[in-house]
Amino acid sequence: MTKWTLIIGASGGIGQQIATTLAADGWSLYLHYHQHEETIQQMVDQFNHQYAGQEFIPVQYDLTDEANLSALTSNIFALDALVFAQGTTHYSLFKDLPLVKLQTMLQMQVVTPLRLVQEFEDKLARSSHGRIVFLGSVYGGAGSPMEVGYSTVKGALSAFARAYAQEIASTGITVNVVAPGAVATPMNDIFTGAEKAAVTEEIPAGRFADPNEISYWVKVLLDPAAQYLTGETIYVTGGWLR
Ligand SMILES: NC(=O)c1ccc[n+]([C@@H]2O[C@H](COP(=O)([O-])OP(=O)(O)OC[C@H]3O[C@@H](n4cnc5c(N)ncnc54)[C@H](OP(=O)(O)O)[C@@H]3O)[C@@H](O)[C@H]2O)c1
Repeated sequence: MTKWTLIIGASGGIGQQIATTLAADGWSLYLHYHQHEETIQQMVDQFNHQYAGQEFIPVQYDLTDEANLSALTSNIFALDALVFAQGTTHYSLFKDLPLVKLQTMLQMQVVTPLRLVQEFEDKLARSSHGRIVFLGSVYGGAGSPMEVGYSTVKGALSAFARAYAQEIASTGITVNVVAPGAVATPMNDIFTGAEKAAVTEEIPAGRFADPNEISYWVKVLLDPAAQYLTGETIYVTGGWLR
């Protein structure tokens, strides 16, 4: 039977790798993007060629917009898993963080995703192994100066997963957070080479993660055998900030 995942932020560095890993694992995918339609179209073309028995459907939506959610939800039919891999950060002292930036981060990374969870709970409960996975961050646990707003947003996802997991455990849906340390993706292009080198020195593993070292854990959480793990935040950091 076809099993379906909706990947929010499938056009991002980590999202693309999650899509690649799940497609190879036999999943059919709804591939969400905000601006990078071409990235998604290339993946769809490639996956259609590689995995003839599966389906791959692009979905566009701006998660800062909570008002027109049906434009996204009406395109989703069967659903077994919901993965949130969208996100942005803002680097500044907290006192200099414009309120609008904080509101945007909260809206697109917490409020709209939680609205989507409400919308999709019944569909996920109809799956025998419903799954929700959020991409959090090590900063959601350890906190980071200069990224206080982002740390707050990511910590909220872990708190949500802990609470909601208890409420829905009887439906068979699990909800967890995969919280990376530093991953080699375009999200870190805001930092200079010297800044990235300074972070690398702090990481016990001595390097940024490859995106497939993150998508691996998403795949594991989506496996039926992972049924008993729920409400957790899994830190995937090469030992950094732990
Ligand atoms: N990279 C890291 O070091 C790192 C570390 C810890 C946690 N994370 C988390 O991992 C997740 C993925 O990060 P990444 O490195 O893959 O980031 P990325 O490459 O910058 O991708 C960001 C994704 O967010 C989407 N997005 C941006 N604004 C949006 C909006 N208004 N509405 C809907 N989607 C929007 C983008 O869509 P378009 O490209 O289509 O516009 C893209 O798919 C994020 O939650 C991030 O916080 C990353």
